[in-house]
Amino acid sequence: MNTKALTRSEVFGQLRKELYGEEQSRHANTHIFIILGASGDLAKKKIYPNLWWLFRDGLLPANTLFVGFARSNLTMQDIRAACLPHMKESFAPLVHQVTDAESESLSAFFSKNSYLSGRYNDAGSFEQLNGHLSSLPDGTDANRLFYLALPPSVYLDVSTNIRHHCMSSRGWNRLIVEKPFGRDLKSSQELSVHLSSLFKEDQIYRIDHYLGKEMVQNLMVLRFGNRIFGPIWNRDSMACVVLTFKEPFGTQGRGGYFDDFGIIRDVMQNHLLQMLCLVAMEKPASTSPDDVRDEKVKVLKCIAPVEAPEVVLGQYVGNPDGDGDSKLGYQDDPTVPKGSCTPTFATAVLYVQNERWDGVPFILRCGKALNERKAEVRLQFTDVPGDIFDERCQRNELVVRVQPDEAIYLKMMTKRPGVFFSPEETELDLTYKSRYKNVKLPDAYERLILDVFCGNQMHFVRSDELREAWRIFTPLLNRIEREKESPIPYPYGSRGPAEADDLVKRVGFRYEGKYKWVQPHAN
Ligand code: NDP
Ligand code: BG6
Repeated sequence: MNTKALTRSEVFGQLRKELYGEEQSRHANTHIFIILGASGDLAKKKIYPNLWWLFRDGLLPANTLFVGFARSNLTMQDIRAACLPHMKESFAPLVHQVTDAESESLSAFFSKNSYLSGRYNDAGSFEQLNGHLSSLPDGTDANRLFYLALPPSVYLDVSTNIRHHCMSSRGWNRLIVEKPFGRDLKSSQELSVHLSSLFKEDQIYRIDHYLGKEMVQNLMVLRFGNRIFGPIWNRDSMACVVLTFKEPFGTQGRGGYFDDFGIIRDVMQNHLLQMLCLVAMEKPASTSPDDVRDEKVKVLKCIAPVEAPEVVLGQYVGNPDGDGDSKLGYQDDPTVPKGSCTPTFATAVLYVQNERWDGVPFILRCGKALNERKAEVRLQFTDVPGDIFDERCQRNELVVRVQPDEAIYLKMMTKRPGVFFSPEETELDLTYKSRYKNVKLPDAYERLILDVFCGNQMHFVRSDELREAWRIFTPLLNRIEREKESPIPYPYGSRGPAEADDLVKRVGFRYEGKYKWVQPHAN
């Protein structure tokens, strides 16, 4: 193993080579990154900070300029002030210390930024935007990246206006679209048809930021870079697969937006389903974006629309014994309509009907205002046939913890140490914080934005993937809206409705509640 520590510039030098290849000249062109919705929450919390980190670490092409566009009458000073608090939490492949050079670099970053206000449905505003882009050094020839950090209600206008008024005639143009991509199969198809009438598929980057997370990307390497998992990664050895997303806070005043979507559209149909695809897909012919996405689509095509008996929906209520926000239920959020039937929690069971997975339940669980923050993939193996240990063995589980505290651990039986000869549950533990002490992981958006610069669509959602994803959930979503059945209440800070545990037990997940993990590196 190479133990020599690399310097910061060596690490970034290697990364640059990996990203852009030896031949840098291709990227000598000017790039303009245009943030539409620059005054918004996503822009200030994610887009600007991530652009800054990429800029700081020298990972963007040398001549990159940034242009913000939104309705508000703002200056770059206003944007800078709004973004700065979110720029502090920094990433670097090496542990990062703020230096004088960095504060100079921050000024250099903002000197490459400009802002323009205009209206999203106004062709004239986009002509002005184009005038501004063209007036920048090399602006007419520059490659242009348009980030739609906007509510979906304006996607149609904005994409049309970009296409008709703001395209670079000599450089390439790429459009980055944020979820939600529609709210059901029909509206999503309408959006897809609209976008494909304006842009080619290889110009459209649909972001699902879970695809930018370290451990989600790791699923492919774990599966296809190891000999040991391949032969057991199927219905012969797996009892079930559980994909979990939990957040310990509620809608925090954003309930008005959330209420129109609910947890299935917000998390299950995209983040959890994408993780499912990476767990279930066959090995792609190569790591080319289309080979990978072809395999994901095949998985989705094998999944029937989710059925009501295999779904539990919940909505959080205030916890009278809790403190602060947890006293308040979903419907106490003033932006949520009274009597709302929107689920804030859902558990659903899907089946991938192909030769590898037939009969294995894929359990998708997600919710807000739960007991902890956690996203993970858990593969529970079947019992060992022909038991000789008097039923004292628990099932093996392979857990890929996406966040927080990235880890891969395999729960397994070993001989209890000492004079005993009895099985005991323990784990093989790859906790990233212990194994990769000096490595800080990048934000998901950082990787994904970089991919757009590099033209790599592997971690972006293709239109046929999207169509299949909506096909699976639309009948359920229609039924929820039609029948307006009240979701099961669960207290803020709990694990969600007990009915969800009953469902997962019924389909075959076994929870013993005996396993105790002893943190190896705790003081
Ligand atoms: P748990 O034993 O907490 O949970 C196992 C699974 O059972 C989870 O999917 C959990 O869901 C579910 N579950 C919990 N309670 C019930 C219930 N009453 N009925 C049905 N299902 C239930 O987690 P682990 O086995 O992963 O490990 C225990 C602890 O050890 C965890 O905190 C884990 O993070 C830690 N650990 C950490 C490691 C590391 O950092 N490297 C390595 C190994 C373990 P739910 O999410 O809803 O609780
Ligand atoms: C977003 C959802 O896509 O993901 C939010 O719209 C959710 O409701 C968020 O809070 C979670 O992202 P992360 O990266 O914090 O797990």
